[in-house]
Amino acid sequence: MSKYDLIIRNADIATVGDRYRADIGVRDGRISAIAQGLEGQAVRELDAGGRLVTPGGVDGHCHFDQPTSDGSRFADDFFTGTRSAACGGTTTVLPFAAQQRGHSLQEAVDDYHRRAEGKAVIDYAFHLIVSDATRDVTQRELPALIEKGYTSFKIYMTYDDMKLDDRQVIEVLAAARKHGAMTMIHAENSDCIAWLTEQLLDAGLTAPRYHASSRPMAVEREATHRAIALAELVDTPILIVHVSGREAVEQIHWARGRGLPIHAETCPQYLFLSAEDLGIDDADPMHGARCICSPPPRDKANQPFIWNGLASGLFSIVSSDHAPFNMNGPDGKRVAGENASFDRIPNGIPGVETRLPLLMSEGVLAGRIDVHRFVELTATNPSRLYGLYPRKGTIAVGSDADLVIWDVFGEGEERTIENAMLHHAADYTPYEGMKLRAWPAVTVSRGRVVWKDGEFQAEPGSGAFLPCLRPRAPNAGNPLQKWI
Ligand code: URP
Ligand code: ZN
Ligand code: ZN
Repeated sequence: MSKYDLIIRNADIATVGDRYRADIGVRDGRISAIAQGLEGQAVRELDAGGRLVTPGGVDGHCHFDQPTSDGSRFADDFFTGTRSAACGGTTTVLPFAAQQRGHSLQEAVDDYHRRAEGKAVIDYAFHLIVSDATRDVTQRELPALIEKGYTSFKIYMTYDDMKLDDRQVIEVLAAARKHGAMTMIHAENSDCIAWLTEQLLDAGLTAPRYHASSRPMAVEREATHRAIALAELVDTPILIVHVSGREAVEQIHWARGRGLPIHAETCPQYLFLSAEDLGIDDADPMHGARCICSPPPRDKANQPFIWNGLASGLFSIVSSDHAPFNMNGPDGKRVAGENASFDRIPNGIPGVETRLPLLMSEGVLAGRIDVHRFVELTATNPSRLYGLYPRKGTIAVGSDADLVIWDVFGEGEERTIENAMLHHAADYTPYEGMKLRAWPAVTVSRGRVVWKDGEFQAEPGSGAFLPCLRPRAPNAGNPLQKWI
């Protein structure tokens, strides 16, 4: 008789393509059998009791313990960040090894491994951030790192310490095409932001809500269009990260209509937060700092366009863009002092634990997307795009046993989000007070039960680093452009 480490019985399994009732047998961290009435013994059995079981979430965009240049510090390191992810049903995270100008990419990777080692409680891979796109970086370092399993990188069109000019963007895209990697682009026009910021500050308009005025939709729309044009020129796929509203959605729609391989990511903040959350009066000027992130949350009229993009297939993935800074203390949102102008407040909000519950509750249970699309957006697509599929992002024999058993609450039994119940180290959540109809009851990471009945149960360091495969063949693209 077969022996399993774990059997999950009576699971209502949902993947991108299927939904069926079965038992799941796990051996050595992998799914080794899926069957109705699975025979055999297990060291441990869990009864899902007919509850929904989805693949563990893959969060393709989060920031833990990333070095900063303004004296601020991310609230989460790899332990608290991955603990929070696990308790919210995520079993794989892809944070960023960020190159510092004047330093090599390899230095960033080595440093980031040191930060993760002995701390992560779920599996993790690294994206790179390329901030110094020298010839040596694009022609030697990137290819060597892609070979070693760092097959995706983010580039910025804004932020003074990160941004690349168009020529440098092209060089990075050309390297991605040649070596089969995926480029993620933060699309906002840096010069427009600098000019608008100067105008606002000169006029004394410094409160957090003017963050939105300094980065209006046109700034994102223009950069999104330019990123698409540059990718078309080089003939390579890109992924536009954290798309915030209608006008950027329209650019992506236009590009897809031209048959261009443009992928897009959005995040819960663009579905659930709005410009109003940046503050509507100046009584408590720092209050709106909680929701400062870039691109900023837009006015509420934009939210239906993001929901439609999730339902229609326009978006490929939903990530958290978890970038947590504390409201209290000297190294978070207040790093530049009390009442600092909006441009000196660190950008980013926490959300790695709330990503899946928010989307299950307000997306699936509210009837805006179906459960298959939920799985695709939150697990399968990020895994495919970043070279982790089929090890991650699905429920199949041979895949890692990364699973979520869901509790769904009836009307009047909703769970109210409070920061105290979350497992990050940030001192607030922007979703405080929201009532949700679903929450992960159990999270299983490579066969280990890491979250159950409200208890986190994993050891620091039990998560493993995952080298990623190339998401595409090298030199894939139009054969007429082989000369690139
Ligand atoms: O405001 C944000 N999104 N902070 C995190 C860094 C980034 O650009 O994704
Ligand atoms: Zn970004
Ligand atoms: Zn980010």
